[in-house]
Amino acid sequence: MAFREYKIGTRMFGIALGGSMMITLYMPSLSIYSVGVTETGLVKGLSYGHNSGFSYEDPFLQGKGKPLTVTVKKDPVTGDDIDPVSAYVYKAGTPFPSAIRNPNILGKAVQALSAEDGQVGEAVESDGAVFLVSRGDYEGETFPYIENVTATRKWTADAVLTAAADTDKHHVGSGKTMFIREGCWWCHTLLPEQTQDWQYFGLPPRLGDFNGEAPTAFGSDRKAPDLLHVGSRNSSKEWMMMHFFNPRLVQPHSIMPRFDYLWGEVDANDNDIDFDQWRTDYKEYAAGNSIYPPVVPNYAPNSEIRYLMDFVLSLK
Ligand code: HEC
Repeated sequence: MAFREYKIGTRMFGIALGGSMMITLYMPSLSIYSVGVTETGLVKGLSYGHNSGFSYEDPFLQGKGKPLTVTVKKDPVTGDDIDPVSAYVYKAGTPFPSAIRNPNILGKAVQALSAEDGQVGEAVESDGAVFLVSRGDYEGETFPYIENVTATRKWTADAVLTAAADTDKHHVGSGKTMFIREGCWWCHTLLPEQTQDWQYFGLPPRLGDFNGEAPTAFGSDRKAPDLLHVGSRNSSKEWMMMHFFNPRLVQPHSIMPRFDYLWGEVDANDNDIDFDQWRTDYKEYAAGNSIYPPVVPNYAPNSEIRYLMDFVLSLK
C-alpha cells in the first residue's frame, strides 16, 4: 500500500518543524545591546532627551521636560572664543536620556569611554548637566563618546544658556514631540530605504543610529517625501514657514494639512495674529483677485512652530 509516502512525509515535516524550533531557540540572534552606537545615534539621543511619547513630565505632549541643543561659540567659563560645538543642555530636573540612564545601550567601547574620559557617571539629573559628543581611542580604534562637560570643564547648564544667544538655542527635543503629536509620520517617513530612494532622500540610517531612542518615528506608509535628511536638501526657514502655515502657498495642490495653529496667539513682536483676516486675504489671493498672498507672521520664540522647525531643520 501507499502508506510509505505518508511516513516519509510525516518524518520530513517533523524534521522541518523541529529544525526551525532549534534555530529559534539556539541560534545566536542579534541583540541590540551588542550594536555599538554611532555618532548620529549619540547626537539624536542627547538632543531628543528622554522618551518623546507620553510621559509623566509631559502628559499633554507640549514639548516639556526636554533638553536644548545649543551652539556654543564662547567658552562659558573663560569667555574665550572657541570653535563652535553643539552642547546638549539639561536644566536641573530635565530627565536624562537613555544613553545616560542606562549606558550599556551604547555598546562596550562607547560606554567605557563615556564613563572614563567623559565622566557621565558624575551627572546628576536634579542638578542638570551639559553634554558634548567627543572622540577618543579605545583599544586602538577611535569612537565617539559622551563627555559630561559639567564635570570635565565646569560648564553648568545655566552658564551655557546665559552665554548663548537665542538664535543659537535649538528646541530639537521639544520639536520631536510636536512631530509625534501632530502625526507627521502618517505621511512622512524617517527611513530612506536601501533602494533608488537614497539618490534623492539620502542614505538609509544605520542600526547604531537608534540605541535607546523611543519612539523612533520611522513611519511606514509613505505618502510624502522622506524627511530623515530634509535639512540637508531644504534648509530655507522662509520656505518652511510658508509651507507649515499653509502648504498651498508653495505647493498649489499639496495634500499636507496647514499647521498655522502651532504659531499660537501672538507673533514674534507679541502682536495678536489675526487668523480670520489672514484666511480672508488668502481666499482673495487663491481666487486670483490679488497678486500677492498675505504675509506669514514671524513666529514667537517660545511657540510650538519654533520647536517643530528646530527639529525639522536638525534632520541633516
Ligand atoms: C496628509 C499628509 C501629510 C502630513 C500629515 C504632513 N505632510 Fe509634510 N508633506 C506632505 C506632502 C505631500 C509634501 C510634498 C510637498 C507638498 O505637497 O506640500 C510634504 C512636504 C513636507 C516637507 C518638505 C519636504 C522636502 O522634501 O523638502 C516638510 C519639511 C514637511 N512636509 C514636514 C511635515 C511635518 C513636520 C509634518 C507634521 C507637522 C507634516 N509634514 C505633515 C504631506 C504631509
